[in-house]
Amino acid sequence: MIEMAEIKKVYNTGNVAFEALRDIDLEIKDNEFIGIVGPSGSGKSTLMNLMGCLDTPTEGEYRLEGIRVDSLTPNQLAEIRNTKVGFVFQAFNLLPYASTFENVELPLLFAGMRGRQRKSRVIELLNRIGLGDKLANKPTELSGGEMQRVAIARALANKPKLILADEPTGNLDTKSGAEIIKIFDELWQTGHTVVVITHDQNIASHCQRIIRLKDGMIHNGNGHPLA
Ligand SMILES: Nc1ncnc2c1ncn2[C@@H]1O[C@H](COP(=O)(O)OP(=O)(O)O)[C@@H](O)[C@H]1O
Ligand SMILES: [Mg+2]
Repeated sequence: MIEMAEIKKVYNTGNVAFEALRDIDLEIKDNEFIGIVGPSGSGKSTLMNLMGCLDTPTEGEYRLEGIRVDSLTPNQLAEIRNTKVGFVFQAFNLLPYASTFENVELPLLFAGMRGRQRKSRVIELLNRIGLGDKLANKPTELSGGEMQRVAIARALANKPKLILADEPTGNLDTKSGAEIIKIFDELWQTGHTVVVITHDQNIASHCQRIIRLKDGMIHNGNGHPLA
């Protein structure tokens, strides 16, 4: 699913270059459930943005489902992203003035899906995550846990194989967080590859494998960098 070799990411801010990731060699297989952990500023979100083709590496090779994506144009990246990756963020990132239905419908509109098929797909997605009775509600009329479930339904709209989540339970109470974890577990069990950045020990305990980042590098448990 994901193959990264000697990935480096440098951010340039004014005259200052900051190396956010280096020496990243990483392989994630189809249908793995992976946790990414590490202190704040260690490069977790940077790595996830690269994985999801939201950004490109400064150096190195990245193959997503066998496709070389490290040197694509922004339009090519968008195409890959829209069909292969579903994103879930800590702050939900829903459109505030759009209903539950419209938030989930949006990626299907972008993908050009026709009216009746689109409507039934949205309803199927919202039933699947238990929000079939909240179609008309705006995000402000939902709980945090419900907003995150809408975001998950939206992420699943175009049937991506890969689900990337950046601290998805960071803004949720324990009970809502547990519901979200259960959904990720189900996604994994139904064949998705799931990669979750988390500080939540509860999520980490569900993962098959944990990737530890420190100072922009991958470290294993005993602190030695993995080549
Ligand atoms: N767009 C950016 N421009 C400049 N520096 C950035 C940018 N994004 C992240 N950084 C820096 O890169 C480092 C890693 O950031 P990030 O990947 O967000 O870490 P984490 O998600 O582990 O907290 C931090 O020092 C951060 O300040
Ligand atoms: Mg982050």
